[in-house]
This record gives sequence, C-alpha cells and structure tokens, in this order.
Amino acid sequence: MSTSTDKNRVIIFDTTLRDGEQSPGASMNIDEKVRIAELLERMGVDVIEAGFPIASNGDFVSVNEISKRVKGAIVCGLARAHKRDIDRCADALEPASRKRIHTFISTSALHMKYKLQMEPEDVHQAVIDSVSHARRFSDDVEWSPEDGSRTEHDFLCRCVESAIDAGATTINIPDTVGYATPDEFAGLIEMLRNRVPNIDKAIISVHCHNDLGLAVANSLAAVCAGARQVECTVNGLGERAGNAAMEEIVMALRTRPDRLPYTTGVNSEYITKASRLVAGITGVVVQPNKAIVGANAFAHEAGIHQDGMLKHSGTYEIMTPESVGLVKSTLVMGKHSGRHAFRKKLEELGCELGDNAFQEAFHRFKELADKKKEIFDEDLIAIVDDAVGHGENRIKFVSLHVVCGSTGPQQAELTLDIDGEQSTHKATGNGPVDATFNAIGVLFPHQARLQLYQVHAVTGGTDAQAEVTVRLEGNGRIVNGHGADTDTLVASARAYVSALNKLAAKREKTVQTALSA
Ligand code: KIV
Ligand code: ZN
Repeated sequence: MSTSTDKNRVIIFDTTLRDGEQSPGASMNIDEKVRIAELLERMGVDVIEAGFPIASNGDFVSVNEISKRVKGAIVCGLARAHKRDIDRCADALEPASRKRIHTFISTSALHMKYKLQMEPEDVHQAVIDSVSHARRFSDDVEWSPEDGSRTEHDFLCRCVESAIDAGATTINIPDTVGYATPDEFAGLIEMLRNRVPNIDKAIISVHCHNDLGLAVANSLAAVCAGARQVECTVNGLGERAGNAAMEEIVMALRTRPDRLPYTTGVNSEYITKASRLVAGITGVVVQPNKAIVGANAFAHEAGIHQDGMLKHSGTYEIMTPESVGLVKSTLVMGKHSGRHAFRKKLEELGCELGDNAFQEAFHRFKELADKKKEIFDEDLIAIVDDAVGHGENRIKFVSLHVVCGSTGPQQAELTLDIDGEQSTHKATGNGPVDATFNAIGVLFPHQARLQLYQVHAVTGGTDAQAEVTVRLEGNGRIVNGHGADTDTLVASARAYVSALNKLAAKREKTVQTALSA
C-alpha cells in the first residue's frame, strides 16, 4: 500500500464481510468469506475487515482463515471496548502478515445514556483502556466513536485526542445512523482537524450508512475535508439501508479527478466480478438501476440515446463498461463449444473453478445448450455460481417430475442422491414449489425454516434460466442456497438442496478444526 508518500491517496477499507454481513439475511459461510476476501485483495483493497471475532465461532474462524490466506492487504477484526473482545480479535488475527484491531464504543449522549448506560467519564476511560490494550497486539489500531456524527463536539474531540495518545493510528468517524448531510459531515472532519491537537498523528477515516441515501456523498465530502480512509462495502451491502458502496466511491474518484483529485489502489476492472460474487453468495440482488453495477447501468434504451451512442459513446457514457470489468465477449457459446472454449470463456468472465467444479459446470452448460438457443454470459455465471462446492455436497439433485396446473393436487416426484445413495419420494403440496420442498423434507428430514424464496430470470426470453435463492435458518444459522435452470421448479429444488448442504455438517467441521489448531 503506497499510501504514505501520496497525500491524496485514499485508503479503501472494505467491510463487506463485517458490516455487510449484518445486512438482513446476508450471512456467508467461511469458504464464501474467504473467496470474497481473496478477490478483494486481488482488486487492490487496502484493508479487509474480515469479521467480529467475539460475535461467534464462525466469525472467529473466518477472520482466522482470512488472516492465513491474505498476504497483501491488511486484515482487520472488530472488537468492542472490552478486554475479552480485543483478546479474541488478536487471537483470530494472529496468523496475519499485516493486522489491524478496530475497537469502538458509542460516544453520543443518546447511546451512552440508553445503550451503554455509562457516564461519559467512564466511556472516556474505556477509550484509553481499549486502545492501549489493543496496541499490545498490533501497532495498527483503529478506534471508532460509534454514533460519532451525533456526538457532542467537545466530548468527541477529547475522546479522539485520548485515543491517539493511547496509540490509535486510524480514527474512524462513523455516521452510524446515516443522519448526516454532506456539508455537515465535511464540517465535522474539518472541526476535528482544527481542534484535536494530535490529529496529524492518525489517519482520519469515515464510515457512512445510507439511511438517507447519502452515504457516498458524505464519504466523498469527508475526503475533500481531509479524510484519507473510506469504509465501504461491495454493492453497498450493510446494516439497514447499507454502507457507502465501494464501487461508487472508486468510480467517482476515477471519473471526476477534476473535482475529486484523489486516488485509490483499487483496480476498477474487478468491480463487476466482485459485485456478482457478493450478490451470488449473499442472495442480496442488485437493483437494476443501481449505479455502476446495476444491470441497466450501461444499457441505453431510449432511441435518442442509442442514436447518440452510435455517433459517439461519450454522449451518454461517462465511464466505459470495460473500466468496471464489463467485457463484451468475443466468444459465442453454443452446443458445439468444447471444454477448451468453455474454459477460455470462463476466464474472460473472470470465473476461476477447481477441477471438480469445472467438470460440473461444463456438464451443466452442455445440458443448457441442448435446451436453449442462445447462451448468454449471465447464463454461464449462474451455472458457475451453482457449481462451486457441488462436488463436496452430501445431497445432490438427481431428477424432478411435477404435476401442476389449475386443478390440484400438485405433485412432485423427486430423486436425490444423499451420501451416495439415491432415493425417490412423491409428495403433494399447495402448489408445485411447496410439493417439491415437501418431498425434500421427507427425503432429508430437517428442522430448518424457510426464510426467503426468490426467483429471478437470468436473461430475457421465455427460455431464460430462472435463478432461485432459498434462505434457510437452522441451529441459529442462516444460509443462502442458489439454483439455476430453465425449469423454475428444478432451479427451486437445486436452490433448496444447496442451502441444506450448507447447513449440513461442513461448517461445524471447519469450526472445530480451526479452533483446535
Ligand atoms: O456503523 C457503525 O458505527 C459501525 C462501527 C462499529 C464502526 O459499524
Ligand atoms: Zn456500520
């Protein structure tokens, strides 16, 4: 990270795996978090907040696993202002080449009185104690006053000064409830720079939530006022309305250097890939008109726009699709395409698969090519998302026959391969999806509760693949499963089976192994 020499270099701190995961239903398993962390590192993110190790064993293990794998970026763990939180965070980060402990406590009058039920003096002492304790494990310590934007200024300045004296190297100012406006938030950063005597010894960071849709605007205003770290997430994932979207911050800085003369280390060509990976894993779909990564972000529908684009792309395009990694592929895939072309195509799409997943994806591609005339990139991405991890699954989808229509009862005859043995069951239900899920429940009895069932068409056309997300909750864990097929019911069965596989066994095994290591 060459940040020290360039005074206009903005550090990108990604918190998709921590704050992003706090988004309702966006929980990820350890393997998924590692995949995201490795991609974030590759794209040039400076700091990866990998989790909140005291929160659960799963969080501990993911921070620990990411600390082992990621070598270029700083790996960060979150901790409240308690010794045991900080100790647990330090343990999880132990293998990291470059580690950061991020400790926080609320400082607004409202939070101190009602949430913490602590006096300001005790909060102030906790700031000093927590930062000093964190410094015993790492020279890189970040401190955050939660609800910072609503904190009384004198008290905020006093806490910030003490945190820096105690050894904090980054001071992060959160707009925890997304209440600030850009001019006000910039003013807050300026105020800290003017009033805190030792502020030059730390980097000022900002962490903005999007409750009023101002997270990115507030972050950029803060950068103009002197902040040099922005905390953000892929697709703007995060608590409630989310966090500042990384892709928007990076592309605003890249596209408007005339107004925003600041740089990041992020290679923007990875943006689309990161967006798809995070959406695929979490099941939190990106709205079509979302800036930078929405399906329509580079689509020109209106005739007069299309005419302008044909004459000069600059008429309606302020950045190129290629700059965010949206490549127009030259390889057209169809039923005659072989393994070599398929592998090349996946490379173009930025999808990397192990041998087993590749074989599975290729097999699925061939099946699809038999059914569908045109295979779009989106179809292949859906197949790839489906194929990852398939080889190790306990339960495998084999076949489904459904009887449905306006006169019931709807019926599903399903065959699954469970631990290498095939069994079939015929179930009825309130509609074909219900019948299919009932059959799964008989073939693989479980207590998991369905939290979300979501279908979307991968492309246009009546022969489009349906991509189904199923969210299950079981044993205090929430998992998302995905399935894609031209048959919506087959996609539904695949998605349900994929979620069950995630719930079944594997995670417990990983937790045990990592904790006893
Ligand atoms: O929003 C917030 O205040 C946070 C802190 C833990 C930084 O996420
Ligand atoms: Zn937050």
